[in-house]
Amino acid sequence: MGNTSSTLPPDHHPFQHPRRLRSEALKTSSRTPRSLRLKIPAFLHRPTSTRTHPSASEELHSERSSSDVGSPYDDASNVDTSSIETRASISPDYERFLAAFPEYALTASLDILRSTELTRLDKPESETYVDYMGGSLFPERLVKWHSGFLQDNILGNTHSISSSSQLSARHASEARKAVLDFFDAPADQYTVVFTSSTTAAIKLVAESFPFGSTSSLILPADAHNSVHGIRCFAKHNGSQIHYLPTLPRGGVLPDEVMVSLTFDLSGRSSSEQALDAAPSLFVLTGQSNISNSKTPLSLFKNAKESGLYTLLDAAALAPTSIISLQKTPVDAVAISFYKMFGYPTGVGALIVRKDFLELLSKNRPWFAGGTVDVVQVPGSIVSLAEELHERFEDGTINYLALPAITEGLQTLKPLLPMLPLRLSSLTLWLVKALEDIKHPSGVPCVQILSRTPSSRLTKIGEQSDVGSVISLLFHDPQGNILPLSFISYCAFKHRISLRTGCMCNPGGAATLLGINSYMDALTEGATLRELESHAGRELGVVRISLGLGSNFNDVQRVIQFAEFISDEFERQKAWTDWMNLRDREELGPCCNTASRA
Ligand SMILES: Cc1ncc(COP(=O)(O)O)c(C=O)c1O
Repeated sequence: MGNTSSTLPPDHHPFQHPRRLRSEALKTSSRTPRSLRLKIPAFLHRPTSTRTHPSASEELHSERSSSDVGSPYDDASNVDTSSIETRASISPDYERFLAAFPEYALTASLDILRSTELTRLDKPESETYVDYMGGSLFPERLVKWHSGFLQDNILGNTHSISSSSQLSARHASEARKAVLDFFDAPADQYTVVFTSSTTAAIKLVAESFPFGSTSSLILPADAHNSVHGIRCFAKHNGSQIHYLPTLPRGGVLPDEVMVSLTFDLSGRSSSEQALDAAPSLFVLTGQSNISNSKTPLSLFKNAKESGLYTLLDAAALAPTSIISLQKTPVDAVAISFYKMFGYPTGVGALIVRKDFLELLSKNRPWFAGGTVDVVQVPGSIVSLAEELHERFEDGTINYLALPAITEGLQTLKPLLPMLPLRLSSLTLWLVKALEDIKHPSGVPCVQILSRTPSSRLTKIGEQSDVGSVISLLFHDPQGNILPLSFISYCAFKHRISLRTGCMCNPGGAATLLGINSYMDALTEGATLRELESHAGRELGVVRISLGLGSNFNDVQRVIQFAEFISDEFERQKAWTDWMNLRDREELGPCCNTASRA
């Protein structure tokens, strides 16, 4: 239950043998586009950069436009919905949506972002992208700026001391500052370790945490496999592993967390545990990538008070939620930047308290180029690098990419307060519309499994209690679940990039699908194929996830897609085509489960 699958680009048919993907030529200018000025409201001007190179985010946010809707902290009381000028504004459905959610108009800056910076989404025959949880989409200017920056500057390996190396080091340090600033992390308490991803950041903590036989690892069942993997290190050291059970629609019960913090598995109170030297680790997933539930970050305060070290997996939370480490004093936070602003891939970070990093550095299982000061060879003496973050950055950091991280964060920062309002409006509309779609038999076509916003937001800056992920199943007129591979096929035909599978979140998926008993019955060597054949169907969900570039058109396309599935004639036709393809090709196990459409 670890695999996920994604619909593929139009030139790669998912039901034929893999072909070489055509790579689209990079259509960027060879120079930095200094003269391009964008009509994006300057509602939040970034502080003056220390750099001389023109900044993508400065240009992006540099002009007030006639469609500026004013302060981002306005409320919906005097919203002029005519200020949104997008293709969608002409449709009666869009007008109905705006009448239902007038406050959506406060997020018009994101429409402008889409029409100027995500133009690829609205080209004729373009893909409808609803897989933001998989990866966000980058503003085009960010890539153009980065390309120009790289062409204009000579950047060297940060391990040298030449001018080109110093330039790289300055940009790395600027990126570290930008990350701390973005997450409101006091620079005297926190530092940033650049990694390749959230997974790598989590592993840094996992492999260095001083787990002992009297330690506990407390973690949620509704979590990514990259979090579950921590248990390998805990188990290896004989620590107790305590899972916080998943609620029926995902997430954890705060009371359950409190109990687990008070007593460990052997029933000792926290004060008794505190007498032990071996530290314990408490991990939370900020937002589930399948159930859409958010975990109250205030629980970290309780964990700290109980003497535990704390780690937040913020991969899914950070792209659309404001996180303040002043307000949530967690020991370490793991993130991936491509999930926040789409570019570049391959860069993540551990934002970490210096005192915690000091503790981890005493227990790091190895050293490497870049992490050390002196190494005795042959011998055993190793002195670690003086800078704490360097002790965890193995080899050469991705120094060419880091300037784009600074720019990406500065581009996202002023837009971030708008995202919960915009995305919760779209999510609420979409969920209601999907639930209303019925087969002629009266059976609902769509079953929503994930959490939806419990209340409507009306102001920019308000945070939603959930994210903008919708995990669902499609049913046939008899109420049978339609195979995920059939839905993937139809989505591919409709040019919709969604995702199917268990999203690398087996605990969340098992609960949403009501198959926890299968989990309990798993034995060593179990395979997904066996599990699916036991269940008699493919296991997983269809996931729609909205993000930075989402607008009403995307939501409307998903609704039309669901209407297509509910149309008896159209669905049967697609089913026949899919079956024919399946019979002609030698497809994998996921496509062999037959339930009539
Ligand atoms: C909640 C969560 N945690 C961790 C990860 C792993 O992120 P990455 O693959 O960037 O390391 C993901 C990826 O989707 C995620 O959604």
